Formats: sequence, structure tokens, C-alpha cells
Amino acid sequence: MSTTSIPFLRTPFYLYDTELLHDTLTAICTEAEKYSNYHVHYAVKANANPMLLKIILDAGLGIDCVSGGEIERALEVGFSPDQIVFAGVGKSDWEINLGLDNDIFCFNVESIPELLIINELAADKNRIANVCFRINPNVGAHTHANITTGLAENKFGIAMEDMEKLIILAKSLTNVRFRGLHFHIGSQILQMDDFIALSERINEIQDRLDSENIHIEIINVGGGLGIDYQNPNMNPIPNFKDYFQTYHRHLKLRPGQSLHFELGRAVVAQCGTLITQVLYIKQGSFKKFAIVDAGMTELIRPALYGAYHKIENISVTQNIRLTDPITVADSEETYDVAGPICESSDVFAKGISLPTTKRGDLLAIRSAGAYGEIMASQYNCRPLPQTYILEELNID
Ligand code: LLP
Repeated sequence: MSTTSIPFLRTPFYLYDTELLHDTLTAICTEAEKYSNYHVHYAVKANANPMLLKIILDAGLGIDCVSGGEIERALEVGFSPDQIVFAGVGKSDWEINLGLDNDIFCFNVESIPELLIINELAADKNRIANVCFRINPNVGAHTHANITTGLAENKFGIAMEDMEKLIILAKSLTNVRFRGLHFHIGSQILQMDDFIALSERINEIQDRLDSENIHIEIINVGGGLGIDYQNPNMNPIPNFKDYFQTYHRHLKLRPGQSLHFELGRAVVAQCGTLITQVLYIKQGSFKKFAIVDAGMTELIRPALYGAYHKIENISVTQNIRLTDPITVADSEETYDVAGPICESSDVFAKGISLPTTKRGDLLAIRSAGAYGEIMASQYNCRPLPQTYILEELNID
């Protein structure tokens, strides 16, 4: 595949490989369908681009929303309200009303005051809201501190010791129906042990509830499955087989219970690439900078979390798809790849080796399909990035 045949497009832009997205969705569905009661909701916070959402809808996934805006986007694209779960620690009244008006599948409730407000707003509309409680399982995850959510110190969820109190309260309320429990321990998790720990904690909780004669219909384990940022070409599709099998082996569902998942990153991260152009090669006093036209405004993850994204010079390698064969460059040099934003943290990578790079070269910042475009900002009055579908560019 040749980059010379890329039509002229103003950089920076996101390029989505929808063939890879289709393959990823096939892998998810094939593995999840092995277990009759597993339901996968796509966590739309990872990427709400309507072109991708349509493909995810057609594959049959449900959807996990964390705001009224996400619910509106999901409905616009065509997701049915009974596929929508709605989480979030701070739901506004208009957002709750939107969920109620559309009779969504479930509200994942994070506190007693929220439960009472949902009941009150539902009563005003003469409706009954389905609710699950998001429990904070106090299970750590081996990932970045900013994206762990399941520890007692985090703001998310209801403390385990308050669980029965809430269930009893919910059962006493006229306009909510208690359906089950929701968990989410963090994101970019690659060690299956973390999901085993969550399963074991849920087993303990279920034993406790059984002994109190409380039956639940829905268990939702959230998302969190990570992807290979280091070697996206070798591992473009996460290991969904292991992931679902881990829950199947370790989580003891009761008869009639359904298990729900909210996967975001694992669905879309690898299909998205941020394409940026090199503006200047600048020699500093002791290192070389490749100054590019994308910045933390298009992809904030490196600046915010110190996240690693593989960078390739596709003008030299001619590789656009992750699946293209890797070419070795004649000569390589070491660069810091930095953006144009007036912030020292606006750096995509430090001290990386790239083929000798010059002004005008296109760089591909890989694995940017999740939490990339959706977290873009207009800081420095920059326009939001354009997006293109690789298959529609008619590249030979
Ligand atoms: N469910 C809940 C309740 C969540 O809070 C999240 C993500 C997900 C599902 C989806 O998690 P995933 O499968 O994508 O790991 N901006 C950060 C990630 C924040 C994740 C927030 N919650 C990043 O760029 O790494």
C-alpha cells in the first residue's frame, strides 16, 4: 500500500480502518456468543464517531452511556433504548428524565441520593425505572492510577457495606425496580488476574445476598480490557477468547442471571490512527525534535497519562494499515515528537527512533481509536480534527 496515493487531506486527521473494526466485532461476538447469557454493551465514551457507532450497532452490541449527550447520540444512530445502560456518578435531572422518557434498559445508580431522585422523577412521569447499583468492590487493577476506579478511595460506586441497605430501600420505593449489580474496576487492564479478583469478589457478594434471600437478575462487570499499545501490528485484535473465558470460569452466575459487559477501548482503539504531518525538524541543544501539526488537542493521552502510542513515519514505510508488512528504513535517528500547543506537556513521545524524518513527512500515531477523537479540545482555538474512513479513501 502506498502513501503516495493518499489524496491531499488537511492534517491532522483521524483515519479509521473499518475492516479492522469489523474483524474486532466479529471476534467479540464469536467469543461472547459461546455463552448464551452474555451481553456486550459498547462504552460510547471511548469513541462516539457516528460512522463507527453505526458499524457497532449493526454488529448487534448494546451501548453503555455516561451522559445525556451520549444517550442522544446512541438514539440518533439507531440504538434501541432497551440496549442502553446509563452509568455516571453525577447524573443531572435532565439526563435522568431523558433516560426515563426513553425507557432505557437500566440506570446504574451510584448513591442513595441519586436513587431517591430517580424514584422522584420517575414518579412525576408515572414510570418505573430499572436500576442496578454500582458497587465499589475495592479491587485494585494493574493499570494507570488515573484510570483505576474500583478502590474504596475512588469516587465511584456504593460501598459494599451499604449494599443491602440500598437494596431494601429500593424495594420500598414505588417507582424504581431493582434489577442487579454493576462493577467497573478500571481501564487498560491486561492481567486476567484482575478480572479473576473481581469475579471472586462478586461471588462473595452473591453468597452474602443468597443468605439474605435477595435475588438479582443482572450482573454487569463493566469494561476495562486493555490493548497492545506497544505492538499494534502484531496484536491488532485483543484476546476476547481469554477475556470471556476468564469470567466464565471464575464468576458463578445463578440460574437465570445475565452477565453484561461494557467494553470501550478493546473495541475501537486499534482501528484508529491519528495522521499528522511533520512541520519542522528542529535541533535543540542536545536533542532533535520533530515538530508535528497534531497536538494534545487532538490526542491528549500522552500529555494526561504519560500514555505510550507507537509512532511510524508512513511516508518512509508506506504502511497505512496495521496489517501492512513492516518495512525497515535505511537510516534511523532519535527524536522527541512534539506538537504545536503552548504547553510543555504537548509531547507525543520522547527519544524515539524513527526513519530519518523531514518536513512534510506523514506520521501515524497508532492505537488512537479509543479516547482520542472524543477527548479532542479546541484549546488554542484549534479546529476539531477531521475524520476519514480508510476504505473510503480508495487507496490502492
Ligand atoms: N464502564 C464504565 C463504568 C467506565 O467508567 C468505563 C471507562 C468503561 C465501562 C469502559 O472502559 P474500557 O473498556 O474502555 O476500559 N480516558 C482514559 C480512559 C478512561 C476510562 C473511563 N471509564 C484513557 O484514555 O485511557
